[in-house]
This record gives sequence, structure tokens and C-alpha cells, in this order.
Amino acid sequence: MKTTVSIIKADIGSVGGHAVTHQKLKDKCNEYLSNAKEEGLLTDFYITNCGDDIDMIMTHTNGTDNEEVHKLAFDTFMAGAEVAKGLKLYGAGQDLLSDTFSGNIKGMGPGSAEMEFKERGSDPVFAYCCDKTEPGAFNLPLFRMFADPFNTAGLVIDPSLHGGFDFEVYDVIENRKVVMSCPDEMYDLLALIGSTGRYVIKRIFRRSDNEIAAAVSTDKLNLMAGKYIGKDDPVAIVRSQSGFPAGGETSEPFAFPHLVSGWMRGSHNGPLMPVSQADARPVRFDGPPRVIGLGFQVSEAKLIGPVDMFADPAFDDARNTATKVANYMRRHGPFEPHRLPADEMEYTSLPGVLEKLEDRFEDM
Ligand code: 13P
Ligand code: 13P
Ligand code: MG
Ligand code: MG
Ligand code: MG
Repeated sequence: MKTTVSIIKADIGSVGGHAVTHQKLKDKCNEYLSNAKEEGLLTDFYITNCGDDIDMIMTHTNGTDNEEVHKLAFDTFMAGAEVAKGLKLYGAGQDLLSDTFSGNIKGMGPGSAEMEFKERGSDPVFAYCCDKTEPGAFNLPLFRMFADPFNTAGLVIDPSLHGGFDFEVYDVIENRKVVMSCPDEMYDLLALIGSTGRYVIKRIFRRSDNEIAAAVSTDKLNLMAGKYIGKDDPVAIVRSQSGFPAGGETSEPFAFPHLVSGWMRGSHNGPLMPVSQADARPVRFDGPPRVIGLGFQVSEAKLIGPVDMFADPAFDDARNTATKVANYMRRHGPFEPHRLPADEMEYTSLPGVLEKLEDRFEDM
């Protein structure tokens, strides 16, 4: 029997503008998922949030892209959005692009990351969930986990990882994908994934046996909707230990709060701050962008745990660095590279300004 881990997430409304979702929305999600567990569709679930995004971490035995599981997530978020509308929450139903389900949640607004595997003797699985950023935010930490020996000692000293990993990369602009192997094609891989707004790591497989190691939600909400409607606030599932990076090798990349896009109005760059679940409240200038980490043991498709990874005070220094970087970036105000380039902004007044000035521009 194989186990499936599905994280399906959406922003269906929040309090304090785009700050934090409301407990009543999580209660509604809990009601729907509890029923599904009783009926046997789900084996287990854990609901959390990073800022205004609700993350439903679900385990079952129905495989990935299962219509019933996807419909459950869709119906759950629709019901939650009704509660949000009743409370006049901000952005009620924000990420729901359609009101009718058509077989798969992909392309309907919510983000999804899923993987199916045969459980090992013990199967540690980590969920990393973000707010105020985009799927490409995981490119750097995932590269570090699965390809950088200065992060993951196991790549060098553990024979079961020594063969390296395959990276499946999506080109979200041209809608195509490519698989690249590390360490052999490391420089070519980096040439792509350094462009975080376009090339996004979707899945990672162990080369020796093609076993799934990681999966990311790559849904580009803005591209689906044809216009910017908030960032995609991604999630990642990462397997660990015994042939995969150790638990602490999966969290270690987040000790460097790297710059990501998606802060304030989806239009600014800022540091990705690793925080506990309690501190997943992005309020300073609607940020800075956040990531939470939850460590589970998956046992007969049940979720044991979680450990709140970034509640560890050893990440205090990363948070202090993120705050210093946030101060520095904020001083740029509306200037790049704090503000995103015009073509990547969620909001832009530029076309209107240019139109107004059209008659006043002269050739030089
Ligand atoms: P323990 O001895 O605590 O099991 O440590 C194993 C390990 O090296 C984890 O990285
Ligand atoms: P969300 O995608 O988290 O709703 O972000 C909206 C935003 O840009 C707030 O400044
Ligand atoms: Mg929002
Ligand atoms: Mg959000
Ligand atoms: Mg969003």
C-alpha cells in the first residue's frame, strides 16, 4: 500500500488586511476534513496557516491528482470563503478563481503539492509553507538541501545519497518542463533556477531509484488569472533521512534569509524570515515574507507530530538578519531592487503615468 501526502492551500480571507486568516475559517476547514476522515477519504490531516494562507496537510491512500481529494479541498475552501464573506474578511475567497469544480484543483486558484510513496520503516516528512512570496522562493533552499554538499553533509558522507538527485524544473512562462541531474548538470540547473520568477523546481527524485524526494506547489495564480491577483504563497513537501537529507539538513537552508519577491502588494523583494507557527503573522509592511516548517513522521498514512521547526531559538539569528535586511531594503522605498521591475508588479500605475505624459515626451 502506498501513502499520499497532499498539501492544498489557499488564501480565502484574512484579518488586518492581508495579515492573518481567521480561526473560524480554519474551524470550517476542520469540519470538512474531519467528515472526510470519518468517511475514509482521508486517513489524517493537519491544518495550519502561514499569514493569510490556510495550509491543509492531508494524508490518504488515493494517489496524487485524485479527483475526490481535490474536490474535497475545493469544497472546503468554498465553504470557508462563505464564512469569510459573512465576516467581511479582507480578500474573502481571494484565491478561488472559479466557483465550479472541474476534476482537478490545478488551475482553479489554490496551490497544491503532492507525492505518493511506499512508506519506509520510518518516514520523516517536512512541510514548508510560505506567505508573501512565490514558488521560486523554494529554488535556493531546495537546491541547497539536495545538491549543495556545504549544506547537506550526507551528499558526501552517506552512500545512500551520494548518487545525487534529479530536479524537475517548470518553465512557468512557456508552460514546459525539463529534468536535470545533480551533481552532473549543476551549473546548467543553476543557470535556470536563478531566474526564480520563471524557472521553478517542481519535484526532486533520488537518482539511484527515482524515488520521490520533494514536491512544490508551482501554481502561478497571476498567470492563471491573466493578471496579478496576489502572490502564490507556495508550500513544499520534503522527505528526509535514510537516503534523503537529514531533518536538520532540510531546515538548514532557511538559516539564510534569502531575498524573495512578493512582499507588499506582491510587488517588492524582501528576506524570507523563518518563523514558528505562532509568528506566522506578516504585518511589517505586510511582511517580511515568512516560512514555517513542520516536521512529521508519516506512519500508516497517519501524521505523527508536528515539530515546529523554526520555533528553535537557533533560528533567532536568521530572524535578526532578516530584520536588518528588511530595514535596509525598506529604505529604498519605491526604487528597484526593493520594488520589483515593472513587468513583475502586482499593481502598476506606470501605463497611466506614461499615457498622461505621452504628449510631453520629445525626441532627443
Ligand atoms: P542521533 O544520535 O541523535 O540519532 O543523531 C543522528 C544524527 O546524526 C542526525 O543528524
Ligand atoms: P497575499 O497573496 O498574501 O494575499 O498578499 C497580498 C499582498 O501583496 C499584501 O501586501
Ligand atoms: Mg491575502
Ligand atoms: Mg498570502
Ligand atoms: Mg497569496
